[in-house]
Amino acid sequence: MTDPTTTQDVVDLLTTDHHEVLDLLEEIKTSTAPDRRRELADVVIGELVRHSVAEEMFVYPAMRRHLPDGDAAVEHDVGEHKELEQLMKEWEVAEAGDPDFDRVLRELEEVLRDHIQDEESEQFPQLRTHIPHEELVGMAERVEAAKKVAPTRPHPLAPNNALFHFVVGPGVGLVDRLRDVWTDRPNRD
Ligand SMILES: [Fe+2]
Ligand SMILES: [Fe+2]
Repeated sequence: MTDPTTTQDVVDLLTTDHHEVLDLLEEIKTSTAPDRRRELADVVIGELVRHSVAEEMFVYPAMRRHLPDGDAAVEHDVGEHKELEQLMKEWEVAEAGDPDFDRVLRELEEVLRDHIQDEESEQFPQLRTHIPHEELVGMAERVEAAKKVAPTRPHPLAPNNALFHFVVGPGVGLVDRLRDVWTDRPNRD
């Protein structure tokens, strides 16, 4: 029998992701070396894309099914993911010394903090209220497994890595692209 106090559920997992990304943003803000800042930005982009896709594939459908007003919450959250995606596309091509790099960093942090606040204070507690613990643990396992499909750190999606361009190449939705990787959709060039 599983012990609910020690078994990680999907809320634990996603909350950890949130705080890792926020810590990375702090590190970028305090770092002065352009190469390091650019490198960390790429890590943030890779992590955020994987996190957002995992939520959209495994968590938001459960929110729609189980939460009162789940549809409205999901529409709101997906809208914020799209805002984040747009900002990440701008960030991806900004040199670390450009004013744009810092502007996007500020905007991204603002949208992300607001989004995280909504999820952690409203939707995640409701998931725990409305969905049995075992199911949330199963969801965590599916999210973990999906994330392994895309390589992890160190520098999983560094700009010189072919996978980075494949996943977050310009002109194509980040989320759609990673979703393609995960669902192994054919006919991709
Ligand atoms: Fe989200
Ligand atoms: Fe999230």
